Amino acid sequence: MNAPLAKLQQIPASIASVADYEPFARERVSEQAWAYVAGGAADEWTLRENCAAFQRLTLHTNVLRDLSGGNTRLTLFGQTFASPIFLAPVAYQKLVHPDGELATVLAASAAQACMVVSTQASVSLEEIARQAKSPLWFQLYFQPDREFTRDLVMRAETAGYKAIVVTVDAPVSGIRNHEQRAGFSLPPGVEAVNLRGMRIPSLQGSQVGDGILLGGSLLATAPTWQDIAWLRSFTSLPIVIKGIMTADDASRAVSEGIDGIIISNHGGRTLDTQPSAIDMLPEIAQAVAGRLPLLLDSGIRRGSDAFKALALGATAVLVGRPYMYGLAAAGAVGVAHVLHILRAELEVAMVLTGSRDLEAITSSLVRRAPGFA
Ligand code: FNR
Ligand code: LAC
Repeated sequence: MNAPLAKLQQIPASIASVADYEPFARERVSEQAWAYVAGGAADEWTLRENCAAFQRLTLHTNVLRDLSGGNTRLTLFGQTFASPIFLAPVAYQKLVHPDGELATVLAASAAQACMVVSTQASVSLEEIARQAKSPLWFQLYFQPDREFTRDLVMRAETAGYKAIVVTVDAPVSGIRNHEQRAGFSLPPGVEAVNLRGMRIPSLQGSQVGDGILLGGSLLATAPTWQDIAWLRSFTSLPIVIKGIMTADDASRAVSEGIDGIIISNHGGRTLDTQPSAIDMLPEIAQAVAGRLPLLLDSGIRRGSDAFKALALGATAVLVGRPYMYGLAAAGAVGVAHVLHILRAELEVAMVLTGSRDLEAITSSLVRRAPGFA
């Protein structure tokens, strides 16, 4: 494996789509970092399925519609967003670019895109907020020490973050065969700076089992619905739960008074052989019946994929790896370019389907490709 190439100073004409960034990114990061960012759990079936599922959906045009005054604006939780394509929380962005999250927030600001900042960011949540000129949400991983967890949320609130995204699908990490084979570990200079000083409390009186994970301290402190209620008791920010993949869990979120859901399989990084997020969207949308907004990520690689998710009931979508590839290849310019490509593709899909604004994107514009029941 050769040493990583220097970052692109200019975007070559051969990068015309988000997928085109992938080879440029791969050559510009270490083999270990690539395994971490690009890889999925176990056999990576879900990772592949996430993208394949979008390709089984067809788009249907409408011609000669009046599209004057059209736009991609979205209002959610009283906040206005220029576009329904958000940046998903991604940990340790300094792994792929020395500026890490600071480059991403610069691009998000230029594009007026919502950025969701990971608990495990490699730049402090305050420093990211100081650079932001676009809306920020904070992604929360509950920490074993609940006082530390509360402090994190209060820090985010003080710094001006506008929502708390609680990720619930990764109380343990997935089976990360690809990372293990590549010998991945965090290099010096890359750490979860927001978690500095955190103590790991020892098990107190909880039953200790004899499993490899089950009965261990990690799961003794993993969050439950009770912890979500506890979070609600001290923050007035909207609470969005990320990582719901069934209609039952979505209905529970409604009855618990949650403000929003992100349908996500964590980009295929947790439990392999889960279905794609987009395939679960219709039944979750039916169960929720408009009682709370549904966001979706996992597998979005085209603006037309975002369109399909919106048509099937999502209010907004998030992308993870696409912007990480932009960041790895070309820093802030790469991330801004990825956001631009996706938004342009979404707008083209809107125009050609005769959809003036996000409300006009309805399920009649999307069908399953022939041969897929
Ligand atoms: C993630 N994801 C993630 N999610 C989260 O809630 N907190 C986190 O810290 C991370 N970290 C992370 C690192 C890397 C390298 C990746 C690729 C992903 C998951 C992320 O928010 C999102 O759900 C997926 O990336 C969406 O799938 P796509 O767009 O990558 O296909
Ligand atoms: C991941 C964790 C950080 O996906 O969410 O790597």
